[in-house]
Amino acid sequence: MTPQVETHRRGKLRRAGQAVVLVALIVGLSYCDEDGTGPGDRLGRRPLDPELVAQGREIFRYDTFGDEAYWTDTARMHEVIEGAVSPALALQVGLKVDADALPQEVKEALAAGQVDLGNPATTVALLKLNAVVGLKGTVEARDGEDRLVRVGITCALCHSTVDNSFAPGIGKRLDGWPNGDLDVGVIVALSPAIPPPLRGLWQHPPYFHDGSAETLEDVVAHYDRVLKLNLSTLGEADLVEYLKTL
Ligand code: HEC
Repeated sequence: MTPQVETHRRGKLRRAGQAVVLVALIVGLSYCDEDGTGPGDRLGRRPLDPELVAQGREIFRYDTFGDEAYWTDTARMHEVIEGAVSPALALQVGLKVDADALPQEVKEALAAGQVDLGNPATTVALLKLNAVVGLKGTVEARDGEDRLVRVGITCALCHSTVDNSFAPGIGKRLDGWPNGDLDVGVIVALSPAIPPPLRGLWQHPPYFHDGSAETLEDVVAHYDRVLKLNLSTLGEADLVEYLKTL
């Protein structure tokens, strides 16, 4: 970035800062209306507690509520990301990068085109920096190499975007804005543990990834047992018939 741009940016930032102070002042003043209650009270709510708001923002942005149990243990998304999701692909499917999470030297390298956006290892590096909006990764060094060992998603994945101020898909977080670019279907389809399509099923026995069910009757009996469906013999037969029509 040239010094002029840097100065210009700083000027812009300063003006933005002044605007924030101004808004805060106006909001502050409007709290001191005749009866001394703020707008929150007039709406039948207490004024917002800044501490709770800050905690809530952390949760919204970074808390996965333990959904790694699905995205890692079931969908094995960490393997997919590590093996095949370059930053270029990630941006293409609508994931966003939080520029504020990037150290200055990474920003400079990005701006200079020195970062390999075609390499999934770069995605792992971004996750290690907690810079991918809504995607929370746990990165651990194994044999001297950074490995993505767990991944989960947060509210921000679908409910935040960025202002593209650094580059398309890379900028400051905008929480609460829908990420209209996110292709959830494609992201989910990248997972190896997604159920296979059931169309034309009758044509290709045996079934299940390990071929453990010879016939559709075996498939249904398996689900009946595992999911405790308590299907009668008739019910099983009906289900088999239906599966044949798909
Ligand atoms: C995988 C994407 C995704 C994630 C992650 C996600 N949401 Fe949503 N959220 C949606 C979609 C899609 C809708 C709209 C659903 C509908 O209208 O039926 C929605 C609706 C909502 C709404 C209702 C909005 C309205 O105007 O009715 C709220 C509030 C909300 N989400 C909050 C959250 C919170 C809080 C989290 C994190 C705990 C979260 N969401 C995580 C996709 C997501």
